Amino acid sequence: MKIAFISDLHVDISPESFKLIDHIIDRLFVIKPDIFIIAGDIAANTQKFEKTLNKFSSLSCKKLLVAGNHDIWIDSPPSLQRGMHSEIKYREILPRICKRNDFLYLGLEPHLIDGIGFAGTIGWYDYTLRNKKYDSRFSIETYRNKQYNEKLTWSDRNFAYWMNGSGNRRKSDEEVAQEMEDSLQKQITSLNRQGADKIIAVTHHVPFSKILFYPNRLPFDFFSAFMGSEGLGNIILGESIVTHTICGHSHIKSSLKIKHVQAKKSPLGYPREWRTGNTNKLIKERLSYFEI
Ligand SMILES: [Fe+2]
Ligand SMILES: [Fe+2]
Repeated sequence: MKIAFISDLHVDISPESFKLIDHIIDRLFVIKPDIFIIAGDIAANTQKFEKTLNKFSSLSCKKLLVAGNHDIWIDSPPSLQRGMHSEIKYREILPRICKRNDFLYLGLEPHLIDGIGFAGTIGWYDYTLRNKKYDSRFSIETYRNKQYNEKLTWSDRNFAYWMNGSGNRRKSDEEVAQEMEDSLQKQITSLNRQGADKIIAVTHHVPFSKILFYPNRLPFDFFSAFMGSEGLGNIILGESIVTHTICGHSHIKSSLKIKHVQAKKSPLGYPREWRTGNTNKLIKERLSYFEI
């Protein structure tokens, strides 16, 4: 089984990013994967999100995706006033858009394809992947506030609204991270029961500090706290049946074997992060694939 994957398309950041989708599709016709996975951060705007998925309709392979933090953003407060929040986007709206556009949605239930199991969650952050070198400088409360020196803000503070069941309280990041970890564990258990030979875990947030870049420089390292959670990695490493993990979110490509798991990240990222003006070279580098 050949699996191609990418993340962090961010098509609503610039027209350049949206134009690249055609090049990604051309490249997929060359790779000819059996499975194509997008590991989150397509667009906060649901119309642009759907328009992007629709572009992949010419591909005959199975297509899967997990949502990223940008995908569950809402234009608060107008959305909140209408009763719309991130939980509804994640559990209802995005799955519906995926279904309409022939993408299997990862995040609510696992998928078993030709003996290979796919379990997925957006994941979240509980600050366990922070650079602990700065613990004397930043308290957990400072991370909860998502503001560095009151000047730089982690944008989830303004746009990610995970509300509780009755919609009257915003959940803490730690609660959301725990829920997403529990969901991943449940899906792996279910795939095990269904007789999967191997499992690929797909998350948007990062499960391992080892695949993050810590330059020991501020403010960069302040924002490492919002990259993912150790708990995600512990679940993955606790299951010998999981052979690969694909994530996104941090816009630096990496591939590393951690114990029995091949951990992969292959983000497109923002135009300012592209180190080449050559589109073919960029897509070749940022759209990855492997055989299982
Ligand atoms: Fe991203
Ligand atoms: Fe992200």
